[in-house]
Amino acid sequence: MQVSGSGSVPLSVIVLAAGQGTRMNSDLPKVLHQMAAAPLLHHALTTARGLDPARIVVVTGHGSDAVTAAALAFDEAVDAVLQDPQHGTAHAVAQAAPLLTDATGDAIVLYADTPLIREETLRAMLDARQRHGVVVLGFHAANPGRYGRLVTQGETLLKITEWKDATQAERNISLCNSGVVCADAQTLLSLVAEVTNDNAAGEYYLTDIVELARKRGLSAGVVLCDEAETQGVNTRHQLAEAEAAFQARARSDALENGVTLTAPETVFFALDTHIGRDAIIGPNVIFGPGVTIESGAEIKGFCHLEGCHISRGATVGPFARLRPGAELAEDVHVGNFVEIKNAILDEGVKVGHLTYIGDADVGEFTNIGAGTVTCNYDGVMKHRTTIGKRVFIGSDTMLVAPVSIGDGALTASGSVITENVPAEAIAIGRARQITNPGLATKLFEKLKSIKAAKEKGH
Ligand code: UD1
Ligand code: CA
Repeated sequence: MQVSGSGSVPLSVIVLAAGQGTRMNSDLPKVLHQMAAAPLLHHALTTARGLDPARIVVVTGHGSDAVTAAALAFDEAVDAVLQDPQHGTAHAVAQAAPLLTDATGDAIVLYADTPLIREETLRAMLDARQRHGVVVLGFHAANPGRYGRLVTQGETLLKITEWKDATQAERNISLCNSGVVCADAQTLLSLVAEVTNDNAAGEYYLTDIVELARKRGLSAGVVLCDEAETQGVNTRHQLAEAEAAFQARARSDALENGVTLTAPETVFFALDTHIGRDAIIGPNVIFGPGVTIESGAEIKGFCHLEGCHISRGATVGPFARLRPGAELAEDVHVGNFVEIKNAILDEGVKVGHLTYIGDADVGEFTNIGAGTVTCNYDGVMKHRTTIGKRVFIGSDTMLVAPVSIGDGALTASGSVITENVPAEAIAIGRARQITNPGLATKLFEKLKSIKAAKEKGH
């Protein structure tokens, strides 16, 4: 990871992702389950990256190959380290030690199954490090259940007690441990190295570092956050709840940022959706991964967008589908029942109705008539269609790729275009029309007499 100029010393982030996630009832490692069109792991990594850390280390265990691949897909600079077997959260942090021998500055520990922690919350923890050797993120739980309890005295955190090891008095505490901790990196690693597994679970608890730090004369403190932020994902029910919480937050952020949402509760964002100010998003719009929409673009209702870029002034939908590689320049209009994939539409292109444009380049101010299809697939390979500037593609044109249409050319309606069309030419590729005067009347009379003869026969 690149260090950027946040001014302070380089930060390390350790993301714990080794757990099995048994209660998901799944073959997929828990941290790879999708929320907002991204694996849970990417949510933690996105939050981590927001802090401009010098290094991010992901601790993997169950499904480590797939989890490592997902971490590298997020950012090749992320390090992954294997924890096998899993002996607890302190043991997990200890696995990152060899990668952090030269780490100066602070380290933050995050859980990959806790996707809703805000960047601001982590920044508040980094600030609190000016007052405390160890900072723990806590929350007041409506139902504290089996969370670890934070035992405090005034501002001071005395210790964290795991539910299994807690006295009844400690279990009555509603201040709970989120699991997120922050300390000087080398201090954290040396504390973790001292942790023993002398407890009810026989595990190495990260939570033990609070008491160990205090024995060294370091102070420990708590930063509080809303319980909603620390919501963990252990079951499919919790995954659905976390998704709903993410969407509620994304809608609110979009509105705050100057995006109009006609019916916010019907719009679904991906983790990496970017929408500019004064864009308008109609009802029932679904964002897959990798969508950017510039200021002032409009997405009408019932569109499905994924891996595409929509420029200023463009309008899309209703009922349009933009797939990966769809690039819409300024003032492009894509209308109803249009699908665009891996295609660049230059400024002012109009594709109004019932059309498939795939693997294509379309020049500026070209008009694509209703029912046009780029026939990009021959059953084995994909081929490209190149259409020039200010071209008029007549309705129901089949463009059999590879094929190119020159600037200012025209294709006649209903044409099957199999050969390149030079600039400014008219191409007609269809059977010539034959018109027989009076023949329709004769045909109907004949058909009626056949029908009458049949009915008599029965
Ligand atoms: C932990 C905390 C508890 C806190 C709770 C919040 C400890 C000892 N307890 O408990 O105080 O209230 O989180 O949710 O830290 N993991 C590994 N390797 C391991 C064990 C865990 O990578 O060997 C990862 C898991 O994948 C998970 C995270 O660490 O992402 C937390 O582990 P989990 O077993 O869920 O801890 P809890 O018992 O819930
Ligand atoms: Ca847990």
